[in-house]
Amino acid sequence: MLLTHATLATMTGGYALIPDAAVAMEGDRIAWAGPLADLPAAYRSLPEHDCAGRLVTPGLIDCHTPAVFAGHRAVEFELRLKGASYEEIARAGGGILSTVIATRAASEEELLAKALPRVDQLIASGATTIEVKSGYGLTVGDELKMLRVARRIGQSRPVTVQATHLAAHAIPPEFKGRAAAYIAEVALPSLRQAHAEGLVDAVDAFCEGIAFSINELCPLFAEAKAFGLPVKLHAEQLSDLGGAAFAAGHGALSADHLEYLSPEGVAAMARAGTVAVILPGAFYTLRESQLPPIAALRAAGVPMAVATDLNPGSSPMASLTLAMNMACTLFRLTPEEALLGTTYHAARALGLADRGRIAPGLRADMCLWDADHPAELSYRIGATALHQRIYGGRLG
Ligand code: NIG
Repeated sequence: MLLTHATLATMTGGYALIPDAAVAMEGDRIAWAGPLADLPAAYRSLPEHDCAGRLVTPGLIDCHTPAVFAGHRAVEFELRLKGASYEEIARAGGGILSTVIATRAASEEELLAKALPRVDQLIASGATTIEVKSGYGLTVGDELKMLRVARRIGQSRPVTVQATHLAAHAIPPEFKGRAAAYIAEVALPSLRQAHAEGLVDAVDAFCEGIAFSINELCPLFAEAKAFGLPVKLHAEQLSDLGGAAFAAGHGALSADHLEYLSPEGVAAMARAGTVAVILPGAFYTLRESQLPPIAALRAAGVPMAVATDLNPGSSPMASLTLAMNMACTLFRLTPEEALLGTTYHAARALGLADRGRIAPGLRADMCLWDADHPAELSYRIGATALHQRIYGGRLG
């Protein structure tokens, strides 16, 4: 297929636009991209799709989504409005653990049926690749169930799913006060089995006072390394436990949240090339007042990705463009940074070198927008300008 008359944001170097551009595709790959006037003769006879001047960007990538779960947490939303904090609710047995109870009770079929409409909303906001985490099962069987659902989402919808093992998300009641035992008896065995079944692409954990310490996570990251799996970490969301520097020391793809990130953490991430995944939906929902150190990350050259964090507790948000809007308005990212954050930098946060930009050899995942300029994607609040997606070289 050949796209013509596109206003092209390749994201290969900021969002400098190519007016009246063409993109030639062969199979699921991009063969050529540039000004239509320069289109090589070899591609001129491809079936043409006229973009009529529309903005064309790489397909969006949501690199942090615990999108598989049962139940909802609207009651906690009300409790927080009455003054309870996220941590207080978690320590009282609610929060993540309330979603664990509902998720354990749900079958694989039920979880898939509940997840697909959420994924459809992400797709409607321009997503062509999403990450899906486990972490609401917290038994070997239930973590595997969640990861199987993640794989099935990718088989059921035109979207690439990267499955992340997040058994170290919370300590379930049966292991209360025994975090190390939970890691040994649930997190590690579930990781081994998930790896053996080809269900896992990366390993994540929640480093926080209400979850796990660095020391408790060492065996998990060692096991991930032994399997050749990349690691990521929920770090410095509610307090500074040095999680980002720990993750960077393990060559992590990303450290996520980061409101309480220290200068040492910024420096460690810069050294390791670890992507900072910022999650404005959780910041907004929890009415957090501590901002992630965006200026320091920018100054240190740490790549910043933006994700929805689509989950039932801290970020019930299913729109990547709304996440971009929030990243700009709440965190002062530029619209250019926000788009890099849902394309190239999000791809890096997932360790995917074959997408996130429009260039020969990369996957032909793109979005056509009813917009003239990329800043419009971040500027609109809760309205999608998506006209059409191209997924793996196919329209639709
Ligand atoms: O990324 N921070 C930990 N994990 C999720 C929240 C999950 C929940 O509250 O259910 C997150 O925000």
